[in-house]
Amino acid sequence: MSAPKKLFVKTYGCQMNVYDSERMIETMGQVGYETTETPETADMILLNTCHIREKAAEKIYSELGRFKRLKSDNPHLKIAVAGCVAQAEGVEIMQRQPMVDMVVGPQSYHRLAALEKASGNGKRVVDIDFPEEDKFDQLGARPKAKRAPSAFLTVQEGCDKFCAFCVVPYTRGSESSRPVERILNEARDLVERGVREITLLGQNVNAYHGIGSKGQETSLAALIWELDKLDGLERIRFTTSHPNDMNEDLIEAHGNCTKLMPYLHLPVQSGSDRILKRMNRSHTAQSYMDLIDKIRQARPDILISGDFIVGFPEEMEEDFDATMDLIRRVEYGQAYSFKYSIRPGTPAAERNQLDEGVKTERLYRLQNLIAEQQKSLQDSMVGRNLPVLLEKSTRFEGQLVGKSEYLHAVHVNAPKTMIGTIQHVRITQSNRNSLTGKIC
Ligand code: SAH
Ligand code: SF4
Ligand code: F3S
Repeated sequence: MSAPKKLFVKTYGCQMNVYDSERMIETMGQVGYETTETPETADMILLNTCHIREKAAEKIYSELGRFKRLKSDNPHLKIAVAGCVAQAEGVEIMQRQPMVDMVVGPQSYHRLAALEKASGNGKRVVDIDFPEEDKFDQLGARPKAKRAPSAFLTVQEGCDKFCAFCVVPYTRGSESSRPVERILNEARDLVERGVREITLLGQNVNAYHGIGSKGQETSLAALIWELDKLDGLERIRFTTSHPNDMNEDLIEAHGNCTKLMPYLHLPVQSGSDRILKRMNRSHTAQSYMDLIDKIRQARPDILISGDFIVGFPEEMEEDFDATMDLIRRVEYGQAYSFKYSIRPGTPAAERNQLDEGVKTERLYRLQNLIAEQQKSLQDSMVGRNLPVLLEKSTRFEGQLVGKSEYLHAVHVNAPKTMIGTIQHVRITQSNRNSLTGKIC
């Protein structure tokens, strides 16, 4: 047996990329690669990229620039670019970056090992197809090694919503759902390997409509109820949802399914109906508020998280005020917010753009408001007794970190043998971005 080759992987972007990187590592494992923590020791470098905002995409080119020297030191080093930048700019990458050997898109990475074999000695390959075959079928069974207590599982991919700012429908393709049985098999496998919490992933996860074992179309709620039956699986989460696909049965599941965690990421983007319309979001601020009310009726303590874009083309001060109002009404426990970033090829890229300074100032105000809400919710956990799934050791001897049901990081003193178990923790302190507690 020859010594294993080394693979260095860097992942950008959303959780789906994290999942995809895992699957790519596994598929390269089948052809003799194991991962390494440093690019200097690698035989192959894989960047799994994100195209969502300009900065994210530009990062890739500067990162590649840094690898130029490694490539000249080691001409056998292979460099691969995967993910959404690969999909969107694959040909351009090949032209701009002569050291790149492989470009592979998010829907064709099951062919990564074959591409690796075909590349090298000056031969460069691009595969950014949206193939007929399902990559998950082609990837086959996952390895059996023990793993961390929390895992991602992609159940749905792509998006047909075409929000005016967003590249996802172009980089990930049209919306598709994996069949229920495949998901259940993968989930069982994960549980056997020590997983206690599964986060179901999809760019539009609540649009899930996979085929069930009897050929019936199955909703996300029905899938969650199937997963609920799995012994050993303790917690179920899902992300990211679109307000328009938040059906009654999913809301009900939040009330009735004890394994479904009280946390919902439900991006709204803006609180102004005029801007929402220009964004092609097809919900209003009021319909979003009504939805939040309904969800809170089903599960009063649910933590709501969101995404916001500030400085979308033509956003006026009063539009921004409407967003701030909506935030005050919802009271978010968590949120991601971004300045609008022009994405070539999307409708909003062609419109009148706002001054960068205006965007920066609005983002600052919005993030301050969110930070206050986030902190006050986190502080309200002090004194409570919360179930915490302990996930890993920290750099402090004898300390573990885990997650509460509301996804707050919680630090406790506990032995390593408790990793993978759920413990009741009395919360004693709220820190900047985490909680500290004592096992009861
Ligand atoms: N499917 C999810 C979001 C996927 S993209 C949804 O429908 O909400 C993740 C987040 O990135 C988006 O919610 C949005 O807030 C942000 N985003 C997407 N395109 C952007 C752009 N052009 N500029 C700034 N932020 C953007
Ligand atoms: Fe992008 Fe989400 Fe809109 Fe789809 S629903 S286009 S992924 S922002
Ligand atoms: Fe980025 Fe692609 Fe995810 S653009 S956010 S990595 S779907």
